[in-house]
Amino acid sequence: MIIGRVIGETSLNNIEFISKTTPKIGEYVTLNYDGKTILGMIETLIHGSVSLNNDIYDPSTVDMIQSIEGNDFYIKGKVKILGDLKDNLRIPRTPAPPGTEIYLADKNTLNKVFQVKNPLKIGGLISQEDIDVNIDINKMITRHLAILAMTGAGKSNTVCVLMDELLKYNGTMVIFDMHSEYVDSDFNNGEVNVIDPEINPIYISFSEIRRLINISSSAYIQERYFREAYKIAISEARKGNYRDFLNILKETLNSWYETETFRNKDIKSNEKTKIMDVINKVEDLENKYGSLLNTNVGDILSQIQLGKANVINLGQSDEATAEVIVSHILRSALKSRKLFIREKTEKSLKFPVFFIVEEAHILAPKNRSINSKLWISRIAREGRKFGLGLCLVSQSPKSIDPDSLSQANNMIILRLVEPQDQRHVQSASESLSEDLLLQLPSLNIGEAIVLGLMVNVPTLVKIDEFKGRRYGDDLDIVNEWTQYKINQEKDVEEQRQSFKELGGDY
Ligand SMILES: Nc1ncnc2c1ncn2[C@@H]1O[C@H](COP(=O)(O)OP(=O)(O)OP(=O)(O)O)[C@@H](O)[C@H]1O
Ligand SMILES: [Mg+2]
Repeated sequence: MIIGRVIGETSLNNIEFISKTTPKIGEYVTLNYDGKTILGMIETLIHGSVSLNNDIYDPSTVDMIQSIEGNDFYIKGKVKILGDLKDNLRIPRTPAPPGTEIYLADKNTLNKVFQVKNPLKIGGLISQEDIDVNIDINKMITRHLAILAMTGAGKSNTVCVLMDELLKYNGTMVIFDMHSEYVDSDFNNGEVNVIDPEINPIYISFSEIRRLINISSSAYIQERYFREAYKIAISEARKGNYRDFLNILKETLNSWYETETFRNKDIKSNEKTKIMDVINKVEDLENKYGSLLNTNVGDILSQIQLGKANVINLGQSDEATAEVIVSHILRSALKSRKLFIREKTEKSLKFPVFFIVEEAHILAPKNRSINSKLWISRIAREGRKFGLGLCLVSQSPKSIDPDSLSQANNMIILRLVEPQDQRHVQSASESLSEDLLLQLPSLNIGEAIVLGLMVNVPTLVKIDEFKGRRYGDDLDIVNEWTQYKINQEKDVEEQRQSFKELGGDY
């Protein structure tokens, strides 16, 4: 169907058109010229009228003009050129001549455009819901993904749809679940494997624990005593001595402090206070991360199961603990996959994994330097070669580490209103045009702009609604208040009754 004609000056990437029909933003169009069929997407639309222009100052003249001029409206729009349909969507070398006819892309054409290898269906086109939008799983995982939107716009729903579809392919995901939203999820295509946030100290590296305990690298006397005590505690733990690792640490340090000897030599008096400092730091560590260190659990990586939605349950953990768990898992995973790919020796992680980081602005913040941010950015940069994918999910794109965000070559952006957030998203993604950016505030819940290597063309998608069970849905606040009130009144009534039965005078 012809919807209009090209007008004005054209370029290789953009054209303007004039129309008498009202197409929709996000709709795909085709243009034929130079023997090619070019695909484009409508990015902006303006509805105007020649006679009802800005120079009218009296509303009553509108009726008069309309009765004379009839309906002289026009539609003007901009189309972003996406490429030659017969040549792998390559951008043509010549701009479209003005006057070229513009057609709405037909269903066949669109189905072909959204056909990808290893497809994952995330939804349908906003403009034509019967056209399925598929994304390429390999490209999504190797080139990483960011899911960004304001709160309540549908990020977690999108994550659930992705996870459920990935499970069809034996997809293996690890989600860092900050609010225990996914722990009880009910997927159609696979199971959830909940992993508790506990690390056996024998799998923690010295540098990791040194950071946890907060001994700076310049405090070398403290570090020496701590290192020695750590070695003793680790070797005890490795022997299968299941006494608490932190207790062994403290006992060892205390024994040096009290006997005043270390390796059969006297400890200088000024060094004694340093040992006390270390003891205090171990106690702080116990208070802060006590629940995290458990000598009875195995390597956390070996708990990740193929073909399951592995959920690291961080709902009860504070941010500091979450940060330690996330960095430990990501660091170990990268190490393990490097060994597996290069030397084929590693036992723990023999398959690729897709890591999903909810609340990415907390775990990879822009302005603070924390371990989880370091390892998130390492996976973002190096994960591709070792089969580790990353999905950053956040309601505050402007607070995410821009290095990690810009490594996400794929994006699903739902409704996003805050201008600074929009700017950040745009600077992290070269394919988000100014015109598309303007659409972000007007998206409805569950509607998204999908960009990147995992789709052949930028797409406006209505994401499928996840039908399985999931927590984190909006609460019915008013109903909860009412229910509480009813229950309270019931309780009072029951008490009154039993008081009466006992012969009391209420
Ligand atoms: N694609 C969709 N289709 C239909 N309803 C949806 C869709 N996406 C989200 N919703 C509805 O919107 C609600 C909020 O969605 P969701 O929990 O995914 O938002 P969110 O972006 O993760 O929010 P938060 O930032 O609070 O985590 C859901 O309870 C669901 O009812
Ligand atoms: Mg959410």
